[in-house]
Amino acid sequence: MDIQTICVVGAGNMGHQIALQAAISGFTVYCTDINEATLQKAKDFAAKRLGGRLEKGKMSAEEVDVIKGRLNFTVSLETAAKDADLVIEAAIEILDIKRKLFADLDKICPPHAILATNSSYIVSSKIADATSRPDKVLNMHWFNPALVMKLVEVVKGPHTSEETVETVLEVTRALGKVPTRVNKEIYGFVANRVFSAITKEGCYLLDQGIASIEDIDNAVRNGLGHPMGPLELLDLTGIDLEYNVLMERFKDTGDAKDKPSPAIVERYALGKYGRKTGSGFYEYKK
Ligand SMILES: NC(=O)c1ccc[n+]([C@@H]2O[C@H](COP(=O)([O-])OP(=O)(O)OC[C@H]3O[C@@H](n4cnc5c(N)ncnc54)[C@H](O)[C@@H]3O)[C@@H](O)[C@H]2O)c1
Repeated sequence: MDIQTICVVGAGNMGHQIALQAAISGFTVYCTDINEATLQKAKDFAAKRLGGRLEKGKMSAEEVDVIKGRLNFTVSLETAAKDADLVIEAAIEILDIKRKLFADLDKICPPHAILATNSSYIVSSKIADATSRPDKVLNMHWFNPALVMKLVEVVKGPHTSEETVETVLEVTRALGKVPTRVNKEIYGFVANRVFSAITKEGCYLLDQGIASIEDIDNAVRNGLGHPMGPLELLDLTGIDLEYNVLMERFKDTGDAKDKPSPAIVERYALGKYGRKTGSGFYEYKK
């Protein structure tokens, strides 16, 4: 493995934490976003999180300085990607935006660079042909919050070389994560397919008035031993994301059972996206 420099594209919910995790793990990181305010937020988050570790005695002042020195933020995709050995794209979940980004990255990055998408549902075979290096394109799927969750799914597309998969499995371990290798592309990969079955049922039970939000989450937490119930987890991952994912799926399949449920549609329409907006299934203090 000769991955030293990682470019993270998109500094939102996922990207800002992936970038920090990579810097903490010893990689040189360039984090980029089209939105300057988002980048500033990502920078402030990193400073605060590292400051916290310093205060708790988990890191020395020198370590914090070294990590900060490795973590670069820029609005320029060119600057962020030109020396990358690995790109982790964590931009908005819209296929056309990702295809355009991968075409641009293909032109900017060195020929050996691996281009990975963190997309939860867009398989890399929908993107790989926008580049001249499909053998180096795959899904590298992190979980939210990326600093905390250990799992990264490494998904081999039909175009992805074995060498690329092996390299990304190795980088994943070097990033302090535990990879699950997914041998074939499938909608939702592994963990989210199981999660989706549970959230769908949670929303169905709520829509039918069978149980309250709190009681549904309570049943899953205390009956199944999950750390979080499905509805509180949707608040964490984002109801807007869930809505967009389900609508994209519905557009693909035309199957009414893939449509978002009323519990999701109503909250989406009201801008109640979950924790990020202060309100979703639950209310959050600012
Ligand atoms: N939120 C989750 O729980 C989660 C978990 C795993 C994977 N993902 C995947 O990660 C990706 C990002 O999700 P998110 O929740 O972080 O979204 P987000 O909306 O929080 O962040 C996306 C960021 O991408 C930026 N962006 C948009 N177009 C861009 C471009 N052309 N160049 C650079 N930046 C651009 C936006 O400004 C925004 O800051 C998606 O593909 C999603 O499927 C999300």
